[in-house]
Amino acid sequence: DLNKSGKVSAKSPSNIALVKYWGKTDPQIPTNPSISYTLTNSFTETTLSFEPKKADELEIRVFLDEVEKTDFVPKIKKFFQRIEEYAPYLEDYDFTLHTHNSFPHSSGIASSASGMSALSKCLIQMEEELGYKVKNRLQRSSFLSRLGSGSACRSVYPGLVTWGESEFIEGSSDLYAIPLEKDIDIHPVFKAFNDTILLIHEGTKSVSSTVGHQLMNNHPYAQLRFDEAKQNIKKLLEILKSGDLEAFGKLVEHEALSLHAMMMLSDPAFILMKPNTVSALDKLWAFRKETGLPLFFTLDAGANIHLLYPDEGKEKIEAFIQSNLLPLCQNEGIIYDRANFEAL
Ligand code: PMV
Repeated sequence: DLNKSGKVSAKSPSNIALVKYWGKTDPQIPTNPSISYTLTNSFTETTLSFEPKKADELEIRVFLDEVEKTDFVPKIKKFFQRIEEYAPYLEDYDFTLHTHNSFPHSSGIASSASGMSALSKCLIQMEEELGYKVKNRLQRSSFLSRLGSGSACRSVYPGLVTWGESEFIEGSSDLYAIPLEKDIDIHPVFKAFNDTILLIHEGTKSVSSTVGHQLMNNHPYAQLRFDEAKQNIKKLLEILKSGDLEAFGKLVEHEALSLHAMMMLSDPAFILMKPNTVSALDKLWAFRKETGLPLFFTLDAGANIHLLYPDEGKEKIEAFIQSNLLPLCQNEGIIYDRANFEAL
């Protein structure tokens, strides 16, 4: 029924990559596979209202926490244009989006993964309301999410998720993500994992991921980076099966530093860490050396730090975070999150 108006809602979490996606070709095809943890407490909730189109030009209005955001519109229009060949009904409607993030918008936490996956889930529901029979719902919402923001396609599944074709993972694809649990037996230590996010620097990132991905074209170290990431998928799979925490930390921290190294070696060059990022990493390494406790870090394309640690030893680790790392956060900004293994 194409003359229908309606309203649909969806919630979707953010995710943190362990093996990073950095570099892509058109249309959002990753230059290497990635693996992430889906998160629990960092999420976006979106309500999408649609009504039959009034004028030729597509109308989209976006409200973040009830405040209209005209600057969000171009990104969503671009997304809708990109998926129009897979969702041709889009051109017959006008849209209003109301969206809310569980984390502060200025926190420097990327909302694109949770935001684009929440919107894609809304579209799937809209399709069903219009009477389309959607087969393979999760795969389709991951596929659509990917075209909104690459990393968003991993947020559709709980737990450990992989995106990008890998010779080491059966069923892996450049077009959508798949949950890892289907292929491997994940060691219990990796099934109850904490991700505490230090908000070192509020405000927008100095490099958008769009620019960052672009800088991997003609980057002198790009091919080495892509090859290494492909091998790191194989290594991480072994680690996830064996439960080797030390090897996990080594690999995940190396991935984070490689991402930042790529930025430092690009033209133009970018340093995404702030002085307090470096201080915190210094303290973390000293703490680990002293105590032997399994506290590790990863970074996204910004100054914030994701602290990764299992439940065992959690009390001592969190006492250290409170007393030594929290003072390095802007306005004491911290998010206690964890890997999400529940059905979404
Ligand atoms: O999804 P994008 O285009 O915002 O890229 C995200 C890239 C990283 O967060 C740095 C790494 C990743 O795999 O999520």
